[in-house]
Amino acid sequence: MKIKWGKKRLMAGGLIGVCLLLLVGYMGQSIKRVDLEGMITVAHRGAANFAPENTMSSFQKGLDLGADFIEGDVHLSKDGELIVIHDESVDRTTNGKGLVKNFTLDELKKLDAGTSFHSDFEGEAIITLNELLEEFYGKIGILIEIKNPSLYPGIEEKVVEILDQYNDLQSIVVQSFSEHALKKIHELNPKLQIAVLIETSTTPISSKKLNDLTSFATYINFNISNLNKRMVDEIHQREGKVLVWSKTDPKLIQKAFRYGVDGIITDFSSWPYLPPVYVAEE
Ligand code: G3P
Ligand code: CA
Repeated sequence: MKIKWGKKRLMAGGLIGVCLLLLVGYMGQSIKRVDLEGMITVAHRGAANFAPENTMSSFQKGLDLGADFIEGDVHLSKDGELIVIHDESVDRTTNGKGLVKNFTLDELKKLDAGTSFHSDFEGEAIITLNELLEEFYGKIGILIEIKNPSLYPGIEEKVVEILDQYNDLQSIVVQSFSEHALKKIHELNPKLQIAVLIETSTTPISSKKLNDLTSFATYINFNISNLNKRMVDEIHQREGKVLVWSKTDPKLIQKAFRYGVDGIITDFSSWPYLPPVYVAEE
C-alpha cells in the first residue's frame, strides 16, 4: 500500500512539475525576443525627436515607432541611484541647475524634464534605470550607455547588479566610451553583451586593437561620419557587429546602409517612414 501511495505522490509531483514547466514556457512567450537579424533600429535617448530625451514618453515613443532597441544614458545620483539622463548636469534638459551627482533621487524627481522640450510635456519626470527596465524589459531591446564612469566609482557593479535580475540578456546591451568600465562589466558578468563606443580621436583602429575589442565586446559602435567600409568588414571578419549613430542626417544614414552596418542609432527611430519631428496636437 505504502509503495502505491509513494507512486501516486511521485506521479502527482511529476504532473505539477510538467504544469509548472508549461506555465513558465507560456509566460516566456510574453517576453519579446529582440530580432537581431537584419538592420537593427535603435531609438537614441528614446525617440528624442518626438519627446523629451531619456524620459518615459521618449522611450514609449521609440517602442510605438517599432524600434528594436531604446538607448538611454546613465549617471549616478548623490545617494547612489542609477539615473537616466544624458548630461552630467541637469541644466539643459530640466528646470534645475547643477550636477546629477549632487542631487538625491528625491530631489531629481522634483525636477521637470519635459518642458525644455515642449510645454506639452510639462511635469515629465526624470527616471531611474530600474524604472526603465521595469517598464520596457520584455517589450523592446535596451541599450544602456554608462556615461563618465570615472565620475562614479562603483557604477559598473550597480549596473551589473540590476541586470543580474533579468534572464533574457539577448535584449540588453551595455555600452560606453570607457573601455575600462566595459572590461570591468565583462569581468563581473561575461554573459552581458557589450558595445564599445569609439571616440573620433581614436580612429583608425589598428588590427591589434580590433582583436582586443572584439574579444569582450559584441558591438563596436561608431559615429557614422567616422567610419569606412573596410572597418565594418574587419569587424565582421572578427564576428563583431557594428552600430552607428547619426542623430538625424538621412544622407549619413544611407551611407551606413551601403557600408553594411548591423544597425543605426537615431532620433528618427523609424526612419525613413515618419516625419522626424514632434508635432504638437491642435
Ligand atoms: O549611442 C551612441 C550615442 O548615444 C553616443 O552619443 O552623446 O548621444 O550619448 P550621445
Ligand atoms: Ca547615448
